Amino acid sequence: IVIEGTIISSVSFDKADFTPEVLICVDQSGIIDRVISATDSDYQPVKQTAQQNGSYHRVEKGSYILPGFTDLHIHAPQWPQAGLALDKPLNEWLNSYTFPLEAKFKDKEYAEKIYYSLIKELLANGTTTGLFFGSIHNEANLILAKICAKLGQRAFIGKVAMDNPDQTPDYYRDQNSQVALKQTEAFIQKMFDLQKQTNAEITPVITPRFVPSCTEETLQGLGQLAKKYDLPIQSHCSESIWEDHYALEHYHLRDTEVLDKFGLLTDKSVMAHGTQLSDQDLDTFNSRKTAIAHCPISNIYFGNSVMRVQDAHQKNVKVGLGTDISGGFSPSLYRNMQQSIMSSQVLTEQGHENARISAANAFYLATVGGANALHIKSGQIKSGFKADLQIVQDQYFNISSNEPQEIFERLIYHTNKENIKKVYVSGKLVHDNLGEE
Ligand code: GUN
Ligand code: FE
Repeated sequence: IVIEGTIISSVSFDKADFTPEVLICVDQSGIIDRVISATDSDYQPVKQTAQQNGSYHRVEKGSYILPGFTDLHIHAPQWPQAGLALDKPLNEWLNSYTFPLEAKFKDKEYAEKIYYSLIKELLANGTTTGLFFGSIHNEANLILAKICAKLGQRAFIGKVAMDNPDQTPDYYRDQNSQVALKQTEAFIQKMFDLQKQTNAEITPVITPRFVPSCTEETLQGLGQLAKKYDLPIQSHCSESIWEDHYALEHYHLRDTEVLDKFGLLTDKSVMAHGTQLSDQDLDTFNSRKTAIAHCPISNIYFGNSVMRVQDAHQKNVKVGLGTDISGGFSPSLYRNMQQSIMSSQVLTEQGHENARISAANAFYLATVGGANALHIKSGQIKSGFKADLQIVQDQYFNISSNEPQEIFERLIYHTNKENIKKVYVSGKLVHDNLGEE
């Protein structure tokens, strides 16, 4: 396909570029082959050929081509609870609401219904890649993978491992460490089979829920499985003071040190939240090349604090953005970009210098940051990258000024899913909002 229009894409952490009127040429495998600018001599010939063979798409004036987003932390089975049950601290919330909800995913029909709704919603919001926590149930997790394959979302999915009888209820737990590890390995194999059958971009992820939920044997065994299969790892790290206390009390170590001790901090690890990370923890993240999934909405509720994005960036720690559904209520990374900017203001007020993040910073996290954390060539619109794109309409084009920087900021602050007209993953159209175009 060949798409003609204006691109907005990050060039660095601090800068998003606005490139008017280009042709994006996508090859058969869904990779951006070339981005041809209006001054290139073959602009017109390439456009004419594409028009003749029916592969040409024109983006209307007032709409823009942006990279798709990566949601770097989301709990798929918590989708029915998004926007609900936000009145208790983390540990009580898990036991009162979240474990009972996740336990329902033993029911395959329920899983099918919820996961279909979730993936449709994420695509409609411009999210082209997701890093998902599933539940403890392999059958439901595979249903999620099949739905992602069918609807065309790139997905990294983990079977949640949680076997600590002191911190998990009888009705929702891996019966022991052996079961947790065996089920994780079985899930990996099933995902590899599904990958082969469908050719879909789905990857299994090693997923200890968090340090308190797991026994020592399970943390150790999961570290070994990640190494054996060279897989990504995801968990929560230093989300709350409660979680940090648990690590100190049971291991006499910081949460980061516990994860590191078991080989769970690698260059393919993504740790959610990190609101309580110390400077030394950040140094460990940097030396292990481990990424942080910043979940700014969720952090207001369960972290009661703000992750230090600028400090992490200064220390060369990879950071992306996550919705953390349902700790965060919104499936939209636009809503999370807005919150990340707003929350950073609070840090500034609390005496952290240079803590403020800009719209360009937030956009970088949602696009380049997430893609880098998962080692995928996505999040930028240039030759050699996957054609993960969203066509977004600026709804105030006719009533406000239209300098590139203003258009960009307006898109960050005002885009709703109604304004996201088309979404592509690896060049394939996965969402088409015919609504009011
Ligand atoms: N820590 C352990 N499990 C969870 C979860 O489901 N959500 C959040 N936000 N934190 C967690
Ligand atoms: Fe989470």
